Amino acid sequence: MIKLEVIIRPERLEELQHRLEEMGLTGMTVTEVRGAGRQAGYVERYRGLEYRVRLLPKLKVELVVPQGVVEEVIKTIRDACLTGEVGDGKIFITQLSDAVRIRTGERGNDAL
Ligand SMILES: Nc1ncnc2c1ncn2[C@@H]1O[C@H](COP(=O)(O)OP(=O)(O)OP(=O)(O)O)[C@@H](O)[C@H]1O
Ligand SMILES: [Mg+2]
Repeated sequence: MIKLEVIIRPERLEELQHRLEEMGLTGMTVTEVRGAGRQAGYVERYRGLEYRVRLLPKLKVELVVPQGVVEEVIKTIRDACLTGEVGDGKIFITQLSDAVRIRTGERGNDAL
């Protein structure tokens, strides 16, 4: 299993969730975060406004998916979240050792 931590523009969540659902992926955790990338301290646009603050509002979407669909998921994320402007976000990818569905005790991919 692979865990993806995806930092996106907040306004792209709806589109991302829709496209992931089309792939049959519904499980996710979304957290409101603030962050900076390469342009820290420089102007970035957010909802039509220019920001000069160091940390911009972003969403962190955590997804755990079977290894075999990772590249397809990455493509889906890019399709949903790419505007071409700085600040489109990032995907951090980690190998995950196991998962458990608490209700049933299922493990691994069955637990997703
Ligand atoms: N190296 C990093 N470590 C942790 N979080 C990061 C890192 N780089 C970016 N992020 C997170 O991703 C968000 C979006 O980053 P962003 O897309 O601006 O990256 P970038 O490297 O500056 O690319 P771009 O040049 O396209 O803007 C940041 O606000 C931050 O939350
Ligand atoms: Mg940036």
